[in-house]
Amino acid sequence: MSVIDTRPLAALLATYPKVALGFLPTPAHPLSRLSAKLAAETGRAVDLWIKRDDVTGLASGGNKTRKLEYAIADAIAKGHDTIVSGGGFQSNSARQCAAAAAKYGLKCVLGLHDGYLKNEEYIRGGNVFLEELLGAEVRIYHGCSSADSIRFATEELIAEGRNPYVIPVGASNSLGSLGYAQAALELIETLPASDLPTSVVVAVGSNGTVAGLAAGFAAVGSDIEVVGMSVDESAEATEAGVRALIDDIWALDVPQGTLNLRIADLALGDGYGIPTDGMREALRLLARTEGILLDPVYTGKAFAGLLAELRLGLGLAQSNRILFWHTGGLPGIFPYRAELAL
Ligand SMILES: Cc1ncc(COP(=O)(O)O)c(C=O)c1O
Repeated sequence: MSVIDTRPLAALLATYPKVALGFLPTPAHPLSRLSAKLAAETGRAVDLWIKRDDVTGLASGGNKTRKLEYAIADAIAKGHDTIVSGGGFQSNSARQCAAAAAKYGLKCVLGLHDGYLKNEEYIRGGNVFLEELLGAEVRIYHGCSSADSIRFATEELIAEGRNPYVIPVGASNSLGSLGYAQAALELIETLPASDLPTSVVVAVGSNGTVAGLAAGFAAVGSDIEVVGMSVDESAEATEAGVRALIDDIWALDVPQGTLNLRIADLALGDGYGIPTDGMREALRLLARTEGILLDPVYTGKAFAGLLAELRLGLGLAQSNRILFWHTGGLPGIFPYRAELAL
């Protein structure tokens, strides 16, 4: 049994200014019907919980809300009047940036690029539609990476004489990741000790969420295991990126501790944004047993990874209580309508 002391992490986080963007703490609750169904199917006890960062409250919610609380405060403190960020057409991060900028009276310019789907809803609907509704200016670049599309937009803005504050892909720098060190603290402070999970499962894209959670639990001396389900790169490449980011988080003086971190890629399939049957089943299962919506790119694949480990008797099958950290992404579901084969 580890000794939990939240005070050093809480004290460190209090030294970083943040704005208020989310309705926090988010709820955490058991998935009773799904647990019973999976226990009957696997013949083993299953105790599944969910943490609802899909309902943070910022323009359809999601994990970027917590990261942007630190990023927007930094932008304001440094005197910027424009936020620049971006990603793929259906970047949830870009949509949350647009909403956060609107709430604090900042301009927002988003560099977006093409991805797996080519349909009209993917290019103009979902998150892109919401970004324009939120008042952001969308600039489109073809055949480049997310980092490139943000860089191109930034270079154009500087050439136009503006002074933009750059929020990187997924707001996943060390400052943004503090939002998830804070979230680890929130889980421990808001759940009774007897309700805390043995494992937390989360989707991994640009690494900030999983890195912040792992660093946060380590900082308070918690031995909760953090399992990151990669939806973008191999487990090896993802883990290298996550560990490098944790080093950057530690460089912000977050107390260091023993990490209990595992990255898996069994749900990645053929690559980022490319549907898998496991993802399709996960979306249907959670919707139809618990009335909760997952997205096809991040949470659907992460939940599929969780289900696969339980059914195959791997990793998470040995965990007494598993908490799935829902990171949002709902607007990205609509362009996938034809792909979901309901
Ligand atoms: C809905 C959703 N879940 C999970 C993630 C992954 O989080 P991170 O980029 O911090 O790894 C993202 C963004 O990348 C996302 O939009």
